[in-house]
Amino acid sequence: MILVTGGLGFIGSHACIALRRAGHKLAIVDNLANSKLAVLERIRDLAGGDVAFHRADIRDATALAAIFGRDPVEAVIHFAGYKAVGESVAKPLDYYENNIGGTFVLLKTMERYAVRRIVFSSSATVYGDPQRLPLTEDHPLGAVNPYGRTKQFIEVILKDRAIGSPEFRHATLRYFNPIGAHPSGRIGEDPRGIPNNLFPYVTQVAIKRLEKLRIYGNDYGTVDGTGVRDYIHVMDLAEGHLAALKFLLDKDRSITVNLGTGRGNSVLEVVNAFERVTGIPIAREFAPRRQGDVASCYADVSLASRELGWQTKLGIEDMCRDAWAWQSANPRGFPE
Ligand code: NAD
Ligand code: WQD
Repeated sequence: MILVTGGLGFIGSHACIALRRAGHKLAIVDNLANSKLAVLERIRDLAGGDVAFHRADIRDATALAAIFGRDPVEAVIHFAGYKAVGESVAKPLDYYENNIGGTFVLLKTMERYAVRRIVFSSSATVYGDPQRLPLTEDHPLGAVNPYGRTKQFIEVILKDRAIGSPEFRHATLRYFNPIGAHPSGRIGEDPRGIPNNLFPYVTQVAIKRLEKLRIYGNDYGTVDGTGVRDYIHVMDLAEGHLAALKFLLDKDRSITVNLGTGRGNSVLEVVNAFERVTGIPIAREFAPRRQGDVASCYADVSLASRELGWQTKLGIEDMCRDAWAWQSANPRGFPE
């Protein structure tokens, strides 16, 4: 059985479908801190098979031990954590406690039950302000906010754990900017409150929940002055987890690897693609740069291709189409 922490969240829900469809037996652990139970039924429908679910907090060692004790765990895929950059600046202790504390309890439980394979959701945010592009995995790390530092610290903990126990293997996946949704439109990104990220903001302007997009900065040294990011379709990202799991089960080593497309798109390119694909105009205005933003960030994806045999298949227009399929069919997100 593969244990998936945070499997009801945006990326975890898509990954669970890919894993189940590939024949893996799954159990999800999620405390619903940033997700809704309605996701579970949709995962089960789309995955075409049963998926076990435990409502529990990964910081609860007793609850976690009961789950590990029930069914042998082959590997863990660890999505659970908080992810909002701004909130992490306001509440750093909550972030350290949940992200690092949660991972710590998980790793101790894995040790106790001799589970020695983990796929971890890291982030391109660990690189901080890029000194050179595209970003290769050996680029110096320098996260610039508490959220990013939790990811950087967890990466160190995983490396130390692997040094101490050569049997232990991790696949640390540095995601770039995941967007899009399952093509059925039945699951997708459902942020609470006003979205911080570009894409859910755009789709909520499109359904008229929000009035207009504010584009943070038009004076960067980029193709059109707006920020450039490596947007990756969440379905491609889900497949990346399958490839990482296979790597861990087949090979006798750990890996830290970028998951992106290797291409950057500016904010204006994304918004224009969305308009082209959906035919819906997106009201927008330029606003000052957002604090902490970098001009450009995109991945070197050669390591993922070489080691995992994985590369993305979907482009920005697929991301727009599928995100819109989700948002238009679920204007208020998942039901309570
Ligand atoms: P998400 O918030 O949608 O999903 C995280 C899930 O974890 C939620 O369902 C939440 O309820 C659960 N959770 C949080 N704390 C928990 C705890 N203590 N115990 C049990 N469950 C808990 O986030 P996502 O976008 O799906 O991201 C998944 C992972 O990928 C996160 O670790 C995130 O930091 C990382 N990541 C996300 C992005 C992104 O842009 N979405 C980019 C890079 C990395
Ligand atoms: C993308 C671009 C903005 C909103 C964040 C986290 C990172 C990772 C992914 C988890 C930038 C611009 C945005 C808006 C805008 N998450 N923008 N108007 O900042 O690259 O990355 O999510 O690990 O850690 O920092 O993504 O979607 O917020 O922004 O103009 O209303 O869109 O300035 O250029 P970001 P984003």
